[in-house]
Amino acid sequence: MMSSPFPRSILQVAPRVVLSLLLAACSRGPGGTGASDVRLPPAGPPGDPAIPARVAPVFPAGWRLPAGQPATFAPQVMAVSNSPEASAAATEIMRAGGNAVDAAVALGFALAVTWPEAGNIGGGGYSVVRLADGRVAAIDYREIAPLAATRDMYLDANGKLTDKSVYGHLASGVPGAVAGLSALLERYGTMPLSRVMQPAIRLAREGFVVDTALAGSIARARGMVTRFQRSTPYFPNGQPLAAGARLVQPDLARTLEAIAQYGAAGFYKGWVADSLVAEMRRGEGIITHEDLLRYTPVWRAPIRTNFREYTLLSMPPSSSGGVTTAESLNILEQYPALPAYGSTRWFHLVGSAYQRAFIDRNAKLADPAFVPVPLAQLTSKTYARQLQGTISETRATPTRELEPRMQALPREPEHTTHYSVVDAQGNAVATTTTLNNSWGSGVWVRGAGFMLNDEMDDFAAQPGTPNMFGLVQGEQNAIQPGKRMLSAMSPTIVLDRDNQVLLVVGAAGGPTIITGTSQVILNVIQHRMTLMDAMRAPRIHHQALPDSLTFEAGGIAPPVLDSLRSMGHAMRQLRALVNVNAIMRVKGGWEGVPEPRRSGGAVGY
Ligand code: GLY
Repeated sequence: MMSSPFPRSILQVAPRVVLSLLLAACSRGPGGTGASDVRLPPAGPPGDPAIPARVAPVFPAGWRLPAGQPATFAPQVMAVSNSPEASAAATEIMRAGGNAVDAAVALGFALAVTWPEAGNIGGGGYSVVRLADGRVAAIDYREIAPLAATRDMYLDANGKLTDKSVYGHLASGVPGAVAGLSALLERYGTMPLSRVMQPAIRLAREGFVVDTALAGSIARARGMVTRFQRSTPYFPNGQPLAAGARLVQPDLARTLEAIAQYGAAGFYKGWVADSLVAEMRRGEGIITHEDLLRYTPVWRAPIRTNFREYTLLSMPPSSSGGVTTAESLNILEQYPALPAYGSTRWFHLVGSAYQRAFIDRNAKLADPAFVPVPLAQLTSKTYARQLQGTISETRATPTRELEPRMQALPREPEHTTHYSVVDAQGNAVATTTTLNNSWGSGVWVRGAGFMLNDEMDDFAAQPGTPNMFGLVQGEQNAIQPGKRMLSAMSPTIVLDRDNQVLLVVGAAGGPTIITGTSQVILNVIQHRMTLMDAMRAPRIHHQALPDSLTFEAGGIAPPVLDSLRSMGHAMRQLRALVNVNAIMRVKGGWEGVPEPRRSGGAVGY
């Protein structure tokens, strides 16, 4: 058992049945979609020191995403998201003269129309910006607990945790997306909101054709959404829209027009706010006009860390993403030479680093406006050296003794969405946004036409008890009015040794966001993979509790799997891990890769 760095309380808590086992997975199905302007990268001469030669990886025989596939290439601009239409909204704005920030805001609003399971105006998120002139910024538009929220609001009369932090009106935090995107545009964009929102308004008013992926997602969400409102644009008369149908969202179009006309006030005041509050009153919701009026996004300094000669800019608390990524990579950096990708030692060291970083994440991180967060310690190389010293070369370190049921969390994380945008000047935006669960709380705001989040479940609704993701978190992340719930979202920009943008990356998938994003980064900068190979490489995940090393089916060679088991790792297999969307600078331009395990679009020119 490892010793001192971690408080025992976080290692000694009792699990509960994970509520989300009840929820059908809501992904859009396999198959990333490269969209228009697809070209192969030019075969430039080798030798640009800033862009090292790429090395072909070896994946296990039979791995379903073989290496060596080309990415979408564009010489000037690139946008990658889980929705081809939303990525195209970004390039439409850049073709019209907008910068990457204008384009990212356009993409964000368009996603609320075309990727309604996670793109949103009823949720929240984070953006990290790196401008071509070297300025960096991060904006936190995470939801906050309503003023009427209380620490034990999700416990029943017997003190047992209910599912009300996941489903229904009470599950929602005060949405931050509209305030955040508007503030981002105002500070770093060049176009008015009314211009950048045009693609989103058009997509909502005129509609777009539902593809098989969206149709599948809608079908899986049927019980969850129709339970609160029988007829919505996704379920006319309670029936799911089929592939090939046109999804037209007139109520959402009117809401977007109000925001385009009045800015964030068009959402937080007036008839849209009235609709949201009226919806709350239909259920057991507690968000009031006062909550909406008080919502404010927060500008923060990005977490800046380095891995070898590369610099990472990522999201500070209220997200745990940047700190936990920095801590994990700092631990790995202590090894002068890291093992080959796919080896027993590679998975052991990476999993052990994540395990240690997540113990800190789950115990020490929360909204910095409410609790002191030891940022300097957790991101320091000295501390990483101390943690690295607790990793045995020959055996896994148990996080704690597990209850048997915790060993078998048979679910894939299917939540949230990330998008990356770069422009011809070299400005870059990484944004991750979410409703938490796919389709959020299941509640659709009548009259205003958007889904509401179930972000309250990201608090420790009962400290010490696992949340929807099986995360066991402490008292520091307990519910308090006005507090932001701890997130794992990790929008990240990586700079090369010449301080040029190399990667713009982030992911969806609850806590696997951190491990998935950082493995793509490691694959590119440690293993020198191409971006496409880095995205297709099999992934692992460790979040301390449950104390298991999760891997993708077929992604670890059988002898390696045997070795990891014999070292004491409880190996847990899932079909797929994490939904990453990324852009990488290459010679002559940019490569964009939407998640090959899901659907999406890389669009550039
Ligand atoms: N709702 C998932 C996260 O913020 O980590």
